[in-house]
Amino acid sequence: MLTVEPLGYACGARIAGADLSKPLSDHDLGVIKAAWTKHLVLVFPKQQITPVDLVAFSRHFGELEDYASQPFNRHPDINEVMVLTNKRTNGKASPTYNAGQNWHTDLSYTIRPAKGTTLYCLERPSVGGDTMFANMYLAYETLSPKMQAFVDGLEGIHDASLIQGLEKRGPEIAAEYKRLNPPVIHPAVRLHPESGRKALYVNERVRQFVGLSEAESKPLIRFLCDHSVASRFVYRHYWSVKDVVMWDNRCLTHLAVGDYDPNESRHMIRTSGKGDYVGRRVETERPQNAARPAASAEIAAGIAALRD
Ligand code: OGA
Ligand code: MN
Repeated sequence: MLTVEPLGYACGARIAGADLSKPLSDHDLGVIKAAWTKHLVLVFPKQQITPVDLVAFSRHFGELEDYASQPFNRHPDINEVMVLTNKRTNGKASPTYNAGQNWHTDLSYTIRPAKGTTLYCLERPSVGGDTMFANMYLAYETLSPKMQAFVDGLEGIHDASLIQGLEKRGPEIAAEYKRLNPPVIHPAVRLHPESGRKALYVNERVRQFVGLSEAESKPLIRFLCDHSVASRFVYRHYWSVKDVVMWDNRCLTHLAVGDYDPNESRHMIRTSGKGDYVGRRVETERPQNAARPAASAEIAAGIAALRD
Protein backbone atom coordinates (compact mmCIF):
# COMPACT_ATOMS: atom_id res chain seq x y z
CA MET A 1 0.00 0.00 0.00
CA LEU A 2 1.41 3.37 -1.01
CA THR A 3 0.89 6.40 1.16
CA VAL A 4 1.33 9.99 0.04
CA GLU A 5 2.38 12.48 2.70
CA PRO A 6 2.83 16.16 1.79
CA LEU A 7 6.24 17.56 2.71
CA GLY A 8 5.60 21.19 1.86
CA TYR A 9 2.71 23.51 1.16
CA ALA A 10 4.18 24.78 -2.11
CA CYS A 11 5.21 21.35 -3.39
CA GLY A 12 6.75 18.06 -2.33
CA ALA A 13 5.34 14.77 -1.04
CA ARG A 14 6.83 11.60 0.34
CA ILE A 15 5.65 8.27 -1.08
CA ALA A 16 6.04 5.47 1.42
CA GLY A 17 5.56 1.79 0.70
CA ALA A 18 7.08 1.73 -2.80
CA ASP A 19 9.85 -0.61 -3.88
CA LEU A 20 11.24 0.82 -7.11
CA SER A 21 13.43 -2.22 -7.73
CA LYS A 22 10.26 -4.17 -8.61
CA PRO A 23 7.70 -3.65 -11.38
CA LEU A 24 4.92 -1.28 -10.32
CA SER A 25 1.29 -2.32 -10.47
CA ASP A 26 -1.06 -0.21 -12.58
CA HIS A 27 -2.79 0.85 -9.40
CA ASP A 28 0.44 2.08 -7.75
CA LEU A 29 1.50 3.80 -10.94
CA GLY A 30 -1.84 5.61 -11.01
CA VAL A 31 -1.34 6.74 -7.40
CA ILE A 32 2.18 8.00 -8.21
CA LYS A 33 1.07 9.85 -11.35
CA ALA A 34 -1.78 11.57 -9.52
CA ALA A 35 0.53 12.50 -6.64
CA TRP A 36 3.11 13.87 -9.10
CA THR A 37 0.53 16.10 -10.80
CA LYS A 38 -0.58 17.39 -7.41
CA HIS A 39 2.71 17.70 -5.50
CA LEU A 40 5.24 18.23 -8.36
CA VAL A 41 8.16 16.78 -6.36
CA LEU A 42 7.97 13.18 -5.08
CA VAL A 43 10.39 11.62 -2.63
CA PHE A 44 10.74 7.83 -2.40
CA PRO A 45 12.91 7.09 0.62
CA LYS A 46 15.09 4.02 1.27
CA GLN A 47 15.30 2.67 -2.27
CA GLN A 48 17.82 -0.04 -3.08
CA ILE A 49 18.01 0.22 -6.87
CA THR A 50 20.45 -0.19 -9.76
CA PRO A 51 20.86 2.25 -12.69
CA VAL A 52 18.78 -0.20 -14.77
CA ASP A 53 15.98 -0.04 -12.15
CA LEU A 54 16.13 3.75 -12.25
CA VAL A 55 15.69 3.68 -16.03
CA ALA A 56 12.81 1.18 -15.79
CA PHE A 57 11.04 3.29 -13.17
CA SER A 58 11.52 6.59 -15.03
CA ARG A 59 10.22 5.10 -18.31
CA HIS A 60 6.78 4.81 -16.73
CA PHE A 61 6.49 8.56 -17.19
CA GLY A 62 7.56 8.68 -20.84
CA GLU A 63 10.52 8.33 -23.17
CA LEU A 64 13.93 9.17 -21.70
CA GLU A 65 16.44 11.81 -22.70
CA ASP A 66 19.78 10.41 -23.90
CA TYR A 67 21.69 13.53 -22.83
CA ALA A 68 23.17 14.02 -26.30
CA SER A 69 23.25 17.76 -25.57
CA GLN A 70 25.44 17.27 -22.50
CA PRO A 71 27.38 14.04 -23.03
CA PHE A 72 29.95 14.72 -20.33
CA ASN A 73 29.24 12.45 -17.39
CA ARG A 74 26.95 9.78 -18.68
CA HIS A 75 26.90 6.32 -17.18
CA PRO A 76 29.55 4.24 -19.03
CA ASP A 77 26.95 1.77 -20.38
CA ILE A 78 23.61 3.57 -20.27
CA ASN A 79 23.21 6.82 -22.18
CA GLU A 80 19.97 7.61 -20.36
CA VAL A 81 21.77 7.79 -17.02
CA MET A 82 23.79 10.84 -16.11
CA VAL A 83 26.19 10.74 -13.18
CA LEU A 84 25.97 13.83 -11.03
CA THR A 85 29.02 13.72 -8.84
CA ASN A 86 31.83 15.74 -7.36
CA LYS A 87 34.11 12.69 -7.27
CA ARG A 88 37.29 13.06 -9.28
CA THR A 89 38.29 10.50 -11.89
CA ASN A 90 42.05 9.96 -12.42
CA GLY A 91 42.70 13.23 -10.61
CA LYS A 92 40.37 15.15 -12.93
CA ALA A 93 37.40 17.18 -11.68
CA SER A 94 34.00 15.77 -12.57
CA PRO A 95 32.22 17.76 -15.31
CA THR A 96 29.06 17.67 -13.17
CA TYR A 97 30.67 18.66 -9.87
CA ASN A 98 28.89 22.03 -9.78
CA ALA A 99 25.71 21.20 -11.73
CA GLY A 100 22.49 23.06 -11.09
CA GLN A 101 23.76 25.89 -8.90
CA ASN A 102 21.56 28.63 -10.28
CA TRP A 103 17.75 28.46 -10.45
CA HIS A 104 16.84 26.52 -13.56
CA THR A 105 14.61 23.93 -15.09
CA ASP A 106 16.36 21.01 -16.74
CA LEU A 107 17.52 21.35 -20.33
CA SER A 108 15.59 24.58 -20.93
CA TYR A 109 18.59 25.62 -23.06
CA THR A 110 17.70 22.81 -25.48
CA ILE A 111 14.94 22.81 -28.02
CA ARG A 112 13.10 20.00 -26.19
CA PRO A 113 13.46 20.67 -22.46
CA ALA A 114 13.16 17.75 -20.06
CA LYS A 115 9.67 16.90 -18.84
CA GLY A 116 10.73 15.47 -15.50
CA THR A 117 13.94 14.44 -13.78
CA THR A 118 14.61 11.59 -11.36
CA LEU A 119 17.61 11.70 -9.08
CA TYR A 120 18.90 8.87 -6.88
CA CYS A 121 21.23 9.75 -4.02
CA LEU A 122 24.11 7.32 -3.46
CA GLU A 123 26.36 9.49 -1.30
CA ARG A 124 25.85 12.83 0.40
CA PRO A 125 28.13 15.18 2.30
CA SER A 126 27.79 15.19 6.09
CA VAL A 127 26.14 18.61 5.97
CA GLY A 128 24.65 20.72 3.17
CA GLY A 129 23.99 19.89 -0.46
CA ASP A 130 20.20 20.25 -0.31
CA THR A 131 18.07 20.82 -3.40
CA MET A 132 15.43 23.56 -3.53
CA PHE A 133 12.32 23.49 -5.71
CA ALA A 134 10.06 26.47 -6.49
CA ASN A 135 6.45 26.13 -7.65
CA MET A 136 6.08 28.05 -10.90
CA TYR A 137 2.29 27.73 -10.97
CA LEU A 138 2.18 29.79 -7.80
CA ALA A 139 4.76 32.17 -9.23
CA TYR A 140 2.50 32.83 -12.22
CA GLU A 141 -0.79 32.85 -10.35
CA THR A 142 0.43 35.43 -7.82
CA LEU A 143 1.40 37.99 -10.48
CA SER A 144 -1.09 40.81 -11.04
CA PRO A 145 -3.50 40.21 -13.94
CA LYS A 146 -1.79 42.97 -15.98
CA MET A 147 1.64 41.44 -15.49
CA GLN A 148 0.23 38.00 -16.28
CA ALA A 149 -1.18 39.33 -19.55
CA PHE A 150 2.16 40.90 -20.46
CA VAL A 151 4.25 37.86 -19.56
CA ASP A 152 1.76 35.57 -21.37
CA GLY A 153 2.82 37.20 -24.62
CA LEU A 154 6.56 36.89 -24.04
CA GLU A 155 9.10 34.35 -25.21
CA GLY A 156 12.43 33.88 -23.44
CA ILE A 157 15.81 33.23 -25.01
CA HIS A 158 17.41 30.44 -22.97
CA ASP A 159 21.17 30.35 -23.12
CA ALA A 160 23.44 27.57 -21.82
CA SER A 161 26.24 30.07 -21.30
CA LEU A 162 24.22 31.34 -18.31
CA ILE A 163 24.69 28.05 -16.47
CA GLN A 164 26.45 29.10 -13.32
CA GLY A 165 29.96 27.74 -13.06
CA LEU A 166 30.03 26.38 -16.63
CA GLU A 167 33.45 27.95 -17.34
CA LYS A 168 34.84 26.40 -14.14
CA ARG A 169 34.24 22.94 -15.63
CA GLY A 170 37.10 23.65 -18.03
CA PRO A 171 37.40 25.53 -21.33
CA GLU A 172 36.87 22.48 -23.56
CA ILE A 173 33.74 21.35 -21.74
CA ALA A 174 32.31 24.87 -21.65
CA ALA A 175 32.99 25.39 -25.36
CA GLU A 176 31.49 22.02 -26.32
CA TYR A 177 28.45 22.63 -24.11
CA LYS A 178 27.78 25.93 -25.87
CA ARG A 179 28.47 24.48 -29.31
CA LEU A 180 25.93 21.70 -28.71
CA ASN A 181 23.40 24.09 -27.21
CA PRO A 182 22.95 27.32 -29.16
CA PRO A 183 20.32 29.63 -27.62
CA VAL A 184 16.67 28.59 -27.97
CA ILE A 185 13.31 30.24 -27.55
CA HIS A 186 10.52 29.08 -25.24
CA PRO A 187 7.31 30.78 -24.14
CA ALA A 188 7.59 32.63 -20.81
CA VAL A 189 4.39 30.93 -19.67
CA ARG A 190 3.53 27.33 -20.42
CA LEU A 191 0.26 25.49 -20.06
CA HIS A 192 0.81 22.21 -18.24
CA PRO A 193 -0.84 19.45 -20.28
CA GLU A 194 -1.90 17.37 -17.27
CA SER A 195 -2.96 19.97 -14.73
CA GLY A 196 -4.29 22.53 -17.23
CA ARG A 197 -2.62 25.28 -15.15
CA LYS A 198 -0.26 27.93 -16.45
CA ALA A 199 3.29 27.99 -15.09
CA LEU A 200 5.94 30.66 -15.40
CA TYR A 201 8.84 29.39 -17.51
CA VAL A 202 11.49 32.00 -16.79
CA ASN A 203 14.65 31.34 -14.81
CA GLU A 204 18.23 32.45 -14.42
CA ARG A 205 19.24 30.91 -17.74
CA VAL A 206 17.02 33.32 -19.70
CA ARG A 207 19.07 36.04 -21.39
CA GLN A 208 16.41 38.19 -23.00
CA PHE A 209 12.82 38.28 -24.18
CA VAL A 210 12.15 38.17 -27.91
CA GLY A 211 11.20 41.62 -29.17
CA LEU A 212 12.38 43.43 -26.02
CA SER A 213 15.80 44.97 -25.79
CA GLU A 214 18.36 43.59 -23.37
CA ALA A 215 17.90 46.66 -21.17
CA GLU A 216 14.12 46.11 -21.10
CA SER A 217 14.45 42.38 -20.51
CA LYS A 218 17.05 42.31 -17.73
CA PRO A 219 15.05 43.96 -14.91
CA LEU A 220 11.96 41.95 -15.82
CA ILE A 221 13.90 38.67 -15.82
CA ARG A 222 15.41 39.68 -12.47
CA PHE A 223 11.98 40.51 -11.05
CA LEU A 224 10.39 37.26 -12.28
CA CYS A 225 13.30 35.15 -11.00
CA ASP A 226 13.20 36.79 -7.58
CA HIS A 227 9.42 36.64 -7.39
CA SER A 228 9.28 32.97 -8.41
CA VAL A 229 11.67 31.73 -5.75
CA ALA A 230 10.11 33.54 -2.77
CA SER A 231 10.40 31.26 0.26
CA ARG A 232 6.65 30.64 0.35
CA PHE A 233 6.86 28.94 -3.07
CA VAL A 234 9.81 26.73 -2.16
CA TYR A 235 10.28 23.19 -0.84
CA ARG A 236 13.83 22.42 0.28
CA HIS A 237 14.86 18.79 0.12
CA TYR A 238 17.30 17.52 2.72
CA TRP A 239 18.74 14.37 1.15
CA SER A 240 19.08 10.99 2.77
CA VAL A 241 21.19 8.37 1.04
CA LYS A 242 18.94 6.11 -1.07
CA ASP A 243 16.28 8.76 -1.66
CA VAL A 244 14.81 8.80 -5.15
CA VAL A 245 13.39 12.24 -5.94
CA MET A 246 11.43 12.98 -9.10
CA TRP A 247 10.26 16.40 -10.14
CA ASP A 248 8.31 18.07 -12.91
CA ASN A 249 10.41 20.53 -14.91
CA ARG A 250 7.35 22.04 -16.58
CA CYS A 251 6.09 23.73 -13.45
CA LEU A 252 9.13 24.01 -11.14
CA THR A 253 12.54 25.57 -11.06
CA HIS A 254 15.20 24.08 -8.84
CA LEU A 255 18.61 24.80 -7.42
CA ALA A 256 21.44 22.64 -6.10
CA VAL A 257 22.72 24.39 -2.98
CA GLY A 258 26.53 24.32 -3.13
CA ASP A 259 27.05 24.62 0.62
CA TYR A 260 29.16 21.56 1.38
CA ASP A 261 32.73 20.50 1.83
CA PRO A 262 34.13 19.75 -1.64
CA ASN A 263 36.33 17.05 -0.11
CA GLU A 264 33.25 15.06 0.85
CA SER A 265 31.40 13.06 -1.79
CA ARG A 266 28.05 13.99 -3.21
CA HIS A 267 27.13 11.32 -5.72
CA MET A 268 23.84 10.86 -7.55
CA ILE A 269 22.55 9.23 -10.71
CA ARG A 270 19.86 10.79 -12.81
CA THR A 271 17.43 10.24 -15.65
CA SER A 272 15.34 12.87 -17.44
CA GLY A 273 12.13 12.43 -19.40
CA LYS A 274 12.04 13.77 -22.95
CA GLY A 275 9.95 16.89 -23.18
CA ASP A 276 6.39 16.85 -24.45
CA TYR A 277 6.87 20.16 -26.24
CA VAL A 278 9.47 21.59 -28.66
CA GLY A 279 10.63 25.22 -28.78
CA ARG A 280 12.61 26.83 -31.56
CA ARG A 281 16.10 28.02 -32.32
CA VAL A 282 16.98 31.68 -32.22
CA GLU A 283 18.07 31.61 -35.88
CA THR A 284 14.53 30.75 -36.96
CA GLU A 285 13.04 33.63 -34.98
CA ARG A 286 10.37 35.50 -36.92
CA PRO A 287 11.23 39.14 -37.64
CA GLN A 288 9.67 41.31 -34.98
CA ASN A 289 7.06 43.92 -35.88
CA ALA A 290 6.74 42.37 -39.33
CA ALA A 291 3.02 43.09 -39.36
CA ARG A 292 3.35 46.76 -38.40
CA PRO A 293 3.19 49.55 -40.97
CA ALA A 294 6.71 50.81 -41.62
CA ALA A 295 7.56 54.16 -40.04
CA SER A 296 9.21 56.64 -42.35
CA ALA A 297 12.86 55.78 -42.80
CA GLU A 298 13.88 59.04 -41.15
CA ILE A 299 11.85 58.43 -37.99
CA ALA A 300 12.91 54.78 -37.87
CA ALA A 301 16.58 55.76 -38.06
CA GLY A 302 16.09 58.30 -35.27
CA ILE A 303 14.42 55.72 -33.02
CA ALA A 304 17.08 53.12 -33.83
CA ALA A 305 19.82 55.54 -32.78
CA LEU A 306 18.22 55.99 -29.37
CA ARG A 307 17.68 52.29 -28.71
CA ASP A 308 20.35 50.20 -27.14
C1 OGA B 1 19.69 18.12 -11.62
C2 OGA B 1 19.96 19.09 -10.57
C3 OGA B 1 20.16 19.29 -8.22
C4 OGA B 1 21.08 18.78 -7.19
O1 OGA B 1 20.01 16.93 -11.45
O2 OGA B 1 19.12 18.52 -12.65
O3 OGA B 1 19.80 20.26 -10.78
O4 OGA B 1 20.89 19.19 -6.03
N1 OGA B 1 20.29 18.57 -9.40
O5 OGA B 1 21.99 18.01 -7.51
MN1 MN C 1 18.74 20.49 -12.68
